[in-house]
Amino acid sequence: MQPEHQATPLAPVQDYPRSDAELGGNMKPKASRREEKSSKFLVYVLLIMVIQGTLLLVFGSIFLRPRTPGFELGSSVRVRNLMYTTNSLSPSFNFTLVTSVAVKNTNFGVFRFDNTTGTVWCGPVIVGEFKIPTGRAPARTTERLDVSVDVSSLRVLNTTSLSSNISYGLLELSSHVRLSGKLNIMNIMKRRRHPQLNCFMKLNFTGASVHDLRCD
Ligand SMILES: *[C@@H]1O[C@H](CO)[C@@H](O)[C@H](O)[C@H]1NC(C)=O
Ligand SMILES: *[C@@H]1O[C@H](CO)[C@@H](O)[C@H](O)[C@H]1NC(C)=O
Ligand SMILES: *[C@@H]1O[C@H](CO)[C@@H](O)[C@H](O)[C@H]1NC(C)=O
Ligand SMILES: *[C@@H]1O[C@H](CO)[C@@H](O)[C@H](O)[C@H]1NC(C)=O
Ligand SMILES: *[C@@H]1O[C@H](CO)[C@@H](O)[C@H](O)[C@H]1NC(C)=O
Repeated sequence: MQPEHQATPLAPVQDYPRSDAELGGNMKPKASRREEKSSKFLVYVLLIMVIQGTLLLVFGSIFLRPRTPGFELGSSVRVRNLMYTTNSLSPSFNFTLVTSVAVKNTNFGVFRFDNTTGTVWCGPVIVGEFKIPTGRAPARTTERLDVSVDVSSLRVLNTTSLSSNISYGLLELSSHVRLSGKLNIMNIMKRRRHPQLNCFMKLNFTGASVHDLRCD
């Protein structure tokens, strides 16, 4: 009974190394080839993901990046119907400024803006107001709008300074207008943007013209 018992456990022990050697000899190259293939596949997938990510990033930064539209004054500002008196008791002036503004939309999407009111100032006093109607600047276009402002000294109360300014012949004016609009880029990127236009100029009474115009 005992030798039989000993024989049975020994037999498999002797068998295993042989079968291991046989199996191992055949299996190992196949497995590493499969591993090589799958790791190559993984590298390709990662590469494609990186390329896709880069393309998306480039696409996004070029086409989807919201840029605040430019807001500029037209090249000329004309003065119409200028009237003024230097009478030191009741000095006054009134005129109409005629110009245009341009909304420069460099985005790959439409910019729709609400109506707004611009102001013209003489020192700390508002001397004129102008309306900009609701509008839109389509993708990558410049929308031009005519602007005409009636300016009058009615609200200027300091007759001393007004009289001296008119008789000096130059009046410093500034104007301010702020647009409020929504940028819509391919229905993906939607942003509110507020382009502003601030200008400074000098009105020459004798020449009925505008000097030293600058905007920022
Ligand atoms: C414009 O100014 C002139 C002279 O200062 C004045 O006689 C006239 O009444 C003013 N007109 C208006 C509409 O304010
Ligand atoms: C925009 O237009 C509406 C309706 O005409 C008006 O009630 C509103 O005061 C305007 N807004 C500005 C800022 O001019
Ligand atoms: C009016 O303007 C003059 C000259 O600019 C100045 O000296 C004076 O203080 C002003 N008066 C008022 C009430 O602001
Ligand atoms: C009026 O004249 C004074 C002094 O000449 C100057 O400092 C001031 O800026 C002028 N104001 C306007 C609105 O032109
Ligand atoms: C105003 O305009 C007149 C005529 O164009 C010119 O002779 C004058 O020099 C101008 N005044 C100033 C202060 O620039």
